[in-house]
Amino acid sequence: MDNEELEITLLLEAMQSRYGYDFRGYARASLTRRIKKGLAETGLQRISELIPPILYDRDFFNKFVANLSVHVTEMFRDPLFFKALREEVIPYLKTFPFIKIWSAGISTGEEVYSLAIVLKEEGLYEKSRIYATDFSDTVLEKARKGIYPTDLIKKSTKNYQKSGGSTSFGNYYHADYESAIFDRALKKNIVFANHNMVTDSVFGEMHLILCRNVLIYFDANLQNHVFQLFFDSLRPNGFLCLGSKETLEYSKEKDNFVAVIKRQKIYQKKKTHRGYHAESL
Ligand SMILES: C[S@@+](CC[C@H](N)C(=O)[O-])C[C@H]1O[C@@H](n2cnc3c(N)ncnc32)[C@H](O)[C@@H]1O
Repeated sequence: MDNEELEITLLLEAMQSRYGYDFRGYARASLTRRIKKGLAETGLQRISELIPPILYDRDFFNKFVANLSVHVTEMFRDPLFFKALREEVIPYLKTFPFIKIWSAGISTGEEVYSLAIVLKEEGLYEKSRIYATDFSDTVLEKARKGIYPTDLIKKSTKNYQKSGGSTSFGNYYHADYESAIFDRALKKNIVFANHNMVTDSVFGEMHLILCRNVLIYFDANLQNHVFQLFFDSLRPNGFLCLGSKETLEYSKEKDNFVAVIKRQKIYQKKKTHRGYHAESL
């Protein structure tokens, strides 16, 4: 192990022991790049010099964690995914009197507001409870506010239309000079909460889980761990939606799910018990 690798190992262990944030299973190359970027912003020379401020200064740690993760997101990201959700998953959800949804790794919240809009338009919002989680308090705070720069609205509107939106996107926010403030009614049934998929436990009995563009930053072992968490959090026949570059196909859980729409990474948990292979992906 060279010195840089050793310093990274010590840093990750310090964060894990002190705060319970465990990055040891994140894909190492991109994690190293982001640690070095964070280091450059502090003006410190060596990675190991980050350890004291991380251990003794919670604000420093919070900012460092926020910088370690990629938060890129947008409204109706991959519009064809949202179209598929409307067409293939929503009809199934309509058969239930009450629906529980977990949107994991929401970043600044655009994904969960997109989902809330779909549920509203499909007449499902009032009987839904959406748990919207991320492990970064910094992004969760922005998500709770639901206020976004107006220069993103053009792209969001395009995505919304492409996703099969049934009204005008402008109905969901009001704009002042610089910000689009999303309708408070969209938040009514959303519970925003800090949850770490690596270390925290199951969310029970979900009908649908969205975890998009998060697992791409995890190594294979950690992905397996999180897929198991999702399996345990879903009802039989519940749906799991991943990001466009993510797949269940090489994971230990693959035989417990069916790919409903492979292209849009929409999977359904089999009704059967874990490990019993009724069909394969
Ligand atoms: C690239 S964003 C994805 C946002 C959104 N799901 C989308 O697809 O546009 C990844 C988010 O995952 C969060 N994240 C990373 N590791 C996590 C973990 N272990 N537990 C919870 N959230 C995590 C990050 O804080 C970040 O906000």
